[in-house]
Amino acid sequence: MTVKKSLISLLEEYKGKYISGENLAEKLKCSRTAVWKAINQLKEDGYQIDCLKNKGYKLSEDSDVLSEECINGYLKTDKYQVEVFQEISSTNDVLKRYAVNDHAEQGTTIVSDYQTGGKGRLGRSFFSPKGTGLYLSLLLRPKGTVIDNLILTAQSAVAVYRAVKNVTGIELSIKWVNDLYYKNKKICGILSEGQASMESGSMEYIVVGIGVNIYEPENGFPDDIKEKAGSLLGKKSEGVSIDRNRLAAEIIKEFYNIANDKELAGEYIEKNIVPGKDILVIDGQNIRKARATGIRKDGTLEITEADGSVNTLVFGEVSVRLDESVVL
Ligand code: BTN
Repeated sequence: MTVKKSLISLLEEYKGKYISGENLAEKLKCSRTAVWKAINQLKEDGYQIDCLKNKGYKLSEDSDVLSEECINGYLKTDKYQVEVFQEISSTNDVLKRYAVNDHAEQGTTIVSDYQTGGKGRLGRSFFSPKGTGLYLSLLLRPKGTVIDNLILTAQSAVAVYRAVKNVTGIELSIKWVNDLYYKNKKICGILSEGQASMESGSMEYIVVGIGVNIYEPENGFPDDIKEKAGSLLGKKSEGVSIDRNRLAAEIIKEFYNIANDKELAGEYIEKNIVPGKDILVIDGQNIRKARATGIRKDGTLEITEADGSVNTLVFGEVSVRLDESVVL
């Protein structure tokens, strides 16, 4: 490990408290000059480090830089291989490349502070600005076919629900299939992508990409999404804060805990806002009105069509939009 990496782990451990240069040098088994150089590099990377002549160095409580050292510190295990980027095209695209080209193993996770080409479902883009969200992708090497793994989409939403509750106490709502809502606005979207063998039909890998809007951007959301998009907290400038490294670690833990469960997590049904609502079923170019009546144990959505017939919707085939104006 480089001096810089060991130093950030130590400063994270002492976050909010001063530690002297001498003490740091001793713990890191390096010279005080090496500590000083590494401190300057960390400052350049955006870490808020206060220096006081007789006290040493302190990582400010408000310092909010995503780092592998900090996420691993919360995970307390080396089961997962976490890589953090400050900027990336799309965490899903890069992780898919790792899966195919480098045969990356289950547990490999990419986290980024910013995506220049964040991708959403149905070929849309996903707004992923710097410093206000959390964008991560997690790799699975599951058993079985695509059909056997459809439930994973729902389980991923529950993993985010649980992680946010653990860190903030906030209980989000889930919108079938896997969007998470807070105060009637979408604050998290999930995009699962994978590859199956044409011969056996079994999955080779699945990449689950999760994007969480944590803070409201200082200039608000772009016009095309501002009606729908929300964030967990207000603007950073309003003084609200959350430890994004801790949230990343909780999502990783909760996700890999639940990912292989074949039984749908209870919260998926309890917290789902779709049952009982009038909806628009979007099936490619076709849009039809229906009423959602419930969610089955396999995660499919039970609906009553406009002609009164009962149908079930499967993940991946359609998407639904809540439509308060629909009268069946
Ligand atoms: C959606 O709501 O349409 C799905 C959005 C998924 C966004 C996440 S952010 C991390 C990962 N990388 C991407 O490019 N997309 C997913």
